Amino acid sequence: MGSKKRKRKEERPTIHPKNKYSENPPDFSLLASLYPSFQPFVYYSRDGRPRIDWTDFNATRELTRILLLHDHGLNWWIPDGQLCPTVPNRSNYIHWVEDLLSSNIVPKTNSTGVKVRGFDIGTGASCIYPLLGASLLGWTFVGSDVTDVALEWARKNVSSNPQISELIEIRRVESNRNTLCLEGFEESVYGGSKMKSSGDFDTEVTPGPLAAPDLHVNKNKIYHGPPILVGVVKDDEKFDFCMCNPPFFESLEEAGLNPKTSCGGTPEEMVCPGGELAFITRIIEDSAVLNHSFRWYTSMVGRKSNLKNLVSKLWEVGVTIVKTTEFVQGKTSRWGLAWSFLPLAQMKLSTSTPEKNNLSFMLEGLQRQHGAIHVLQAVESYFCSHGWSCSLNVSSFTVDVVASKDQCDSILKNELPLLPKAAGFGPVPETCDKSLNPSSDRLCLRILVFQQIPGTLLVKGSLQDRNSPLSGAFSLIFQKFEEALRSKFCIDKRSA
Ligand SMILES: C[S@@+](CC[C@H](N)C(=O)[O-])C[C@H]1O[C@@H](n2cnc3c(N)ncnc32)[C@H](O)[C@@H]1O
Repeated sequence: MGSKKRKRKEERPTIHPKNKYSENPPDFSLLASLYPSFQPFVYYSRDGRPRIDWTDFNATRELTRILLLHDHGLNWWIPDGQLCPTVPNRSNYIHWVEDLLSSNIVPKTNSTGVKVRGFDIGTGASCIYPLLGASLLGWTFVGSDVTDVALEWARKNVSSNPQISELIEIRRVESNRNTLCLEGFEESVYGGSKMKSSGDFDTEVTPGPLAAPDLHVNKNKIYHGPPILVGVVKDDEKFDFCMCNPPFFESLEEAGLNPKTSCGGTPEEMVCPGGELAFITRIIEDSAVLNHSFRWYTSMVGRKSNLKNLVSKLWEVGVTIVKTTEFVQGKTSRWGLAWSFLPLAQMKLSTSTPEKNNLSFMLEGLQRQHGAIHVLQAVESYFCSHGWSCSLNVSSFTVDVVASKDQCDSILKNELPLLPKAAGFGPVPETCDKSLNPSSDRLCLRILVFQQIPGTLLVKGSLQDRNSPLSGAFSLIFQKFEEALRSKFCIDKRSA
């Protein structure tokens, strides 16, 4: 039991490799010797390790202050009770956005300038994302907020750092301006009919893999608060991305549930009627209106169960791509959700060669009825639904798949609905070509499904012919395939 738990833990992604703290986590002992103000908060556990009391607001604030100073050269402070960010995990989100921007899936548009321009929704008193993004990567930011305290302290934190202050604008959102519902959205998101927005819609994209959102949940979760993007972003403004750590909770009681940490947080920071589902749904609706004004829209999501609804909504409003990631913070997880309305990049098949011949991922927390054989069948039906030739071998738990360039494109452009939602698995479509006919201009993969422990499967993909001109598409295709399998098998898992 112990070893299983340990194994699971080791497999979870923890910290982004580019994160300053990935190799060298903060050394409390060293920091205490360098910063006497931090000393009183450090104690030594029986194993001799230096620790701090994470439930002590003053300790966590002092740690954040000295990490920002020591590692980033930033002067920083927040008043008592405001949400105190932890530097390593906020840096993870910044580096994930950095990855999105540097990947070519959604090409950079000419409308944004040379410098990366981001929009931090709800920057807080800490102004943590703009400070990190500007100091680590030279990004420019608009940071928005609604409360006087947040705006006052965010501005103080910017002006205390003249080396980057030019890069950050703090923008007030008028809290007395209720957005109510965006015209046309009420029907589309909650009533199922087609959306009409003033945005420039890209109708080429078909909806993705997930089922219709859970209407019963959503009806109670309509956002009625101040504007978030529409009404805050100015006409003709363009951004490379937006990011948001939303108010996660529906009520103060819910916000006070975790006694293990005390990062503070006022009701205005932590609570929003309808919780994060309502808040992020509004960001999605706003994004459909603002459309190409942002290259990537992103948000943090606190509950995995909300991710399912949000991803469904995204496909409904016609995004071209959805990406998710998991941020592990000690014992809790958060998820990153990213989407775009811009056309996806064409594959540069002839020039790119794959970095790896093998890629894999874990499917964890599978329900009992979803064994390796079901996943294997789902693999087959996924590739077949995109017209790929498939050969399933139940004794070796492999599916060999072969595709032409058009069939690769079908996956990369989400041209067909991905895996069906139904609990059972659809039969392999009749259009599926079962004959495998590899040739030099085809992409050939072997997918292996392997049970690690009950409820956890390893899915591995191997490129069969590295010299094929299509081999450069392997990692992108495998990524899409992973998203589809995860959407089908993993997202139902409830997590607090
Ligand atoms: C969870 S806090 C995040 C603070 C900071 N970004 C962080 O990560 O520590 C959410 C922030 O969103 C702000 N907020 C709530 N509604 C907003 C809105 N409509 N527009 C902008 N900010 C909003 C709150 O005042 C609060 O500062």
